[in-house]
Amino acid sequence: QLMQEISGLKVLENQVKEKFQLEKVIVVPGNSDDERRVKQELGKACVSYLKGVLEDNMTIAVTGGSTMSLVAESMTPLNKKNCLFVPSRGGLGEQLENQANTICAQMANKAQGEYRLLYVPDPISEKAYQSIIEEPAVKEISNEIQHADIVLHGIGEALTMAERRKTPEDQLKRIKEDHGVGEAFGYYFDKSGKIVHKVRTVGLQMEDLQKIKQVIAVAGGTSKADAIESYFKQGRSNVLITDEAAAEKLVKG
Ligand code: G3H
Repeated sequence: QLMQEISGLKVLENQVKEKFQLEKVIVVPGNSDDERRVKQELGKACVSYLKGVLEDNMTIAVTGGSTMSLVAESMTPLNKKNCLFVPSRGGLGEQLENQANTICAQMANKAQGEYRLLYVPDPISEKAYQSIIEEPAVKEISNEIQHADIVLHGIGEALTMAERRKTPEDQLKRIKEDHGVGEAFGYYFDKSGKIVHKVRTVGLQMEDLQKIKQVIAVAGGTSKADAIESYFKQGRSNVLITDEAAAEKLVKG
């Protein structure tokens, strides 16, 4: 029976891979919506995939969120020279344990790598953005982020994320009116993948992903299927690590 389950997951992996034209899809059994254990498995799968692609002197950018925090929890020494972890964004209006900075530091410590943090409020006003980007220290880290070799990121449901991040009422209203369903890197997408809202951030931009060879999305749970689909209409990730429940919904539509 175990063999049957494993081959079932392989079939799902291939179907999702075909659907979104990805390089690699990993599907873990279960539904992250129901069990924290499944989300932990996503974390473990991400760490083991990372170990297979990581080389000396690489920079890894990481986003925030509960899924990424479980990737950090599963991290073990990477045994590579000069690996640097950087956060994809600055300080969000989120709980400390969900912040990219916190997760980045935790991951680096467990991986026995180095880390740098981004001490900039996120979102940031246009005016403040234009001046802060000129600060040498900010410029330096922002450059490291843009030139990351690997990106590990979560995908969230648009409204869940907007509310969790205390998005101002007028922006929340717009995301709702424009039917936002998914969120990643502070970008909100509708069903067709169109960007309906974007948070001004010093961190990673969608266009930066084009140059990055390994962009690894980690997201699972039935509740996230639509968000995952909306992201991949536009997103440039080449790897998806998800769970059975989300994959089934993605395949069946
Ligand atoms: O951008 C999306 C979020 O990082 C997803 O957060 O893993 O807590 O659902 P989550």
